[in-house]
Amino acid sequence: MAAVTMMARKYFSQYHMTSTCVILVMSLVLTTVLGQQRFKVEPTNTSVRQGGTVILSCTVQDKAGPLQWTRNGFGLGEERELPGFPRYSMIGSDELGEYNLMIVDSQIEDDAEFQCQVGATVNSAGIRSNSAQLSVLLPPEPPQIENARSVIAVILNQPTNITCRANGGKPAATITWLKGGLMVTDHVFTSAVPQADGKRMDAISSLTISPSKSDSGKQVACHAMNEAMVDPYTTSAILDVQYTPEIKMKVNLTRAIREYQYVRFSCDAIGNPYEITWKWYRNEDLLENQTRNYMDIPSIRRTFNGDTISCEATNSVGSTKKTFLLNVEYGPQFIGPPEHEAVDIDDPATLKCQADGNPKPSIIWTRKGSKRILSSSPNFKLPAVTQSNFGIYMCTATVMGFNEISREIYLLQNGKPRIMSEAEQFAGKGENAIVHCEAMSVPKPDHIIWTRNGQIIDYASSGRFSAQESDLPYGRKSSLQILNIHEEDFGAYNCSVINRYGDDNAVIYLKERESFPLPYVIGGAVGGSALLFILIVGCVLYQRNKGAELESYTDSDSTTDKKKEFKSDSPADFKSTLMDQWRQDYNKDLYRYSADYDELNINYPGKEMRANNNGFNYGPDIIANDPYTTDSYIVGDEYSHRDDEVSSERCESSYSTGYVPRSFRNDYSNPYPNTLPPAEISTSRLATNV
Ligand SMILES: *[C@@H]1O[C@H](CO)[C@@H](O)[C@H](O)[C@H]1NC(C)=O
Ligand SMILES: *[C@@H]1O[C@H](CO)[C@@H](O)[C@H](O)[C@H]1NC(C)=O
Ligand SMILES: *[C@@H]1O[C@H](CO)[C@@H](O)[C@H](O)[C@H]1NC(C)=O
Ligand SMILES: *[C@@H]1O[C@H](CO)[C@@H](O)[C@H](O)[C@H]1NC(C)=O
Repeated sequence: MAAVTMMARKYFSQYHMTSTCVILVMSLVLTTVLGQQRFKVEPTNTSVRQGGTVILSCTVQDKAGPLQWTRNGFGLGEERELPGFPRYSMIGSDELGEYNLMIVDSQIEDDAEFQCQVGATVNSAGIRSNSAQLSVLLPPEPPQIENARSVIAVILNQPTNITCRANGGKPAATITWLKGGLMVTDHVFTSAVPQADGKRMDAISSLTISPSKSDSGKQVACHAMNEAMVDPYTTSAILDVQYTPEIKMKVNLTRAIREYQYVRFSCDAIGNPYEITWKWYRNEDLLENQTRNYMDIPSIRRTFNGDTISCEATNSVGSTKKTFLLNVEYGPQFIGPPEHEAVDIDDPATLKCQADGNPKPSIIWTRKGSKRILSSSPNFKLPAVTQSNFGIYMCTATVMGFNEISREIYLLQNGKPRIMSEAEQFAGKGENAIVHCEAMSVPKPDHIIWTRNGQIIDYASSGRFSAQESDLPYGRKSSLQILNIHEEDFGAYNCSVINRYGDDNAVIYLKERESFPLPYVIGGAVGGSALLFILIVGCVLYQRNKGAELESYTDSDSTTDKKKEFKSDSPADFKSTLMDQWRQDYNKDLYRYSADYDELNINYPGKEMRANNNGFNYGPDIIANDPYTTDSYIVGDEYSHRDDEVSSERCESSYSTGYVPRSFRNDYSNPYPNTLPPAEISTSRLATNV
């Protein structure tokens, strides 16, 4: 047996010249005693930090053949100091069969599969150990939060991804998030992407946050860590929660807004970023040149009622709008002109009175001179009119906190027309003259016809004559204009007024005005100063005209007469008083209409007059209804009206005491040059009915 072994060893020694005596003896002993070579300890999967030292174990029992390690299948050498691999060596004792592979200063190239192999001999088969995976662990690069340095700008309530990258870790770094010092695990999405070498990994983690106000100023930290590290890498940034401006709107009035008040709307806003620009809107319309955080309406008008005023604040994040619904309180105002009603006896009648105001005005109807309330509806209905119903009614509109307003509405009986003009009218030769024929007529006349010498005036052929008709409150007027009066134009003009109830006619005498004072004429002629003459004549004419007018309208209303009129409400008296009344009211109504028509823009002759019955002291220069051109308004304010009110026409006080309302007195200069003379003028001066 020993001889055979010896023979075999000899045979094999041809291959292994390095075999020593010791090996031969050992082999002899081992193979004799223990038999075939085999692994006692095999390498296992191991990991090492880059730069670290690692030992892969390999212990062989009864080692017969040569031993070497392979890395990814390539042999490293059989010597204990592996010359081609300075950081590698096989350590251990030969006696114990230890051939442990030691790697110092591990590098990424060491990241491989290792195997321990022993070659075969005559008596022993070659053997291979387990494959052991050596992992070399690399820390990642320090992590970075994308798109942020020290501050992360986020928008309130807008879900935002914050992304942190830790590149090149092996294995991929694990990223953890902290917000305000607390770990966040929800809404974190992490992925790892291998680098080109197939070993290193880039770790990417997104944290989705829906920022709240309280997040502002909080720190968001990204921690990156893998097995190659003892302590994690950290980076962090501060959250800057940006949001659109938040607006607080104020109106500098504590109580309800009243017409004509100075109103300031102001808006305060906080926002991040704080740089804010302002815009203002009335309803949806942008108001030009309003770029401050307040907006003034120096004298707010009723047209703003129900409108909205909005302020809009814009910063880099977006815009916010705040809206104020306007409720502008304003006093009552009648809508449209007074609508007098004319009916026959037994007919139904409806007296109408519409008033605007905020809050909505309440309406009451009374008989003029009485306080008894007849109706509180805008439409006062009488089912069947009796004789005693005819007369003057008062409609009063009231809005709490404002001056009440009243207007007269007549219930008139239909009848034939009555002419009320002066019987004698005057003009100078060569002048242009106007002959007036005014008729009270309910219903309105169908025709007013002028005749002269029994002939209807032929306006077309005459060339110098023309006639113009205009409505009166309850009648009509025709003005016959004659250009360049000739001698033969003086004389009788016959005016006929016809409605469906009858007719009336009157002869009106156009008379020549007295000649000019002689001294002036002579003086002018002698002086030869034609210019002076003309000037003086002009002067004189003016004075005379003015004098004549004043004469016609002075000493009109005696209080006692008025008293009588108002007391005479019996049906019998009514017609005659109504006649006088009419002449009074003619003046007044024109005057009064000016106020009522103001809004409607109807060009009534009295428009330039001051209004006193709508409670507002519109000046004579009202230009437009555009509230933005406030500069061009001349508007009295709420308080100045109060003075007005004392003397203004208030039905309660004026009628109950029998005082003549202001508009009945001629305490204003004649509002309208072509008005009738007052009632007391002797009837001889009036046109006679033919
Ligand atoms: C060692 O690592 C390799 C490759 O990663 C793997 O296939 C094998 O199962 C591992 N062995 C052990 C015992 O974990
Ligand atoms: C945030 O990232 C996740 C995952 O990548 C994605 O599904 C989501 O749409 C992103 N959200 C936003 C707001 O970008
Ligand atoms: C509102 O503000 C304006 C402008 O400052 C001021 O003229 C007005 O008097 C203020 N009104 C009230 C009621 O304070
Ligand atoms: C005036 O005219 C009417 C009808 O046109 C006529 O009936 C009346 O007689 C006339 N009066 C005079 C004085 O000419």
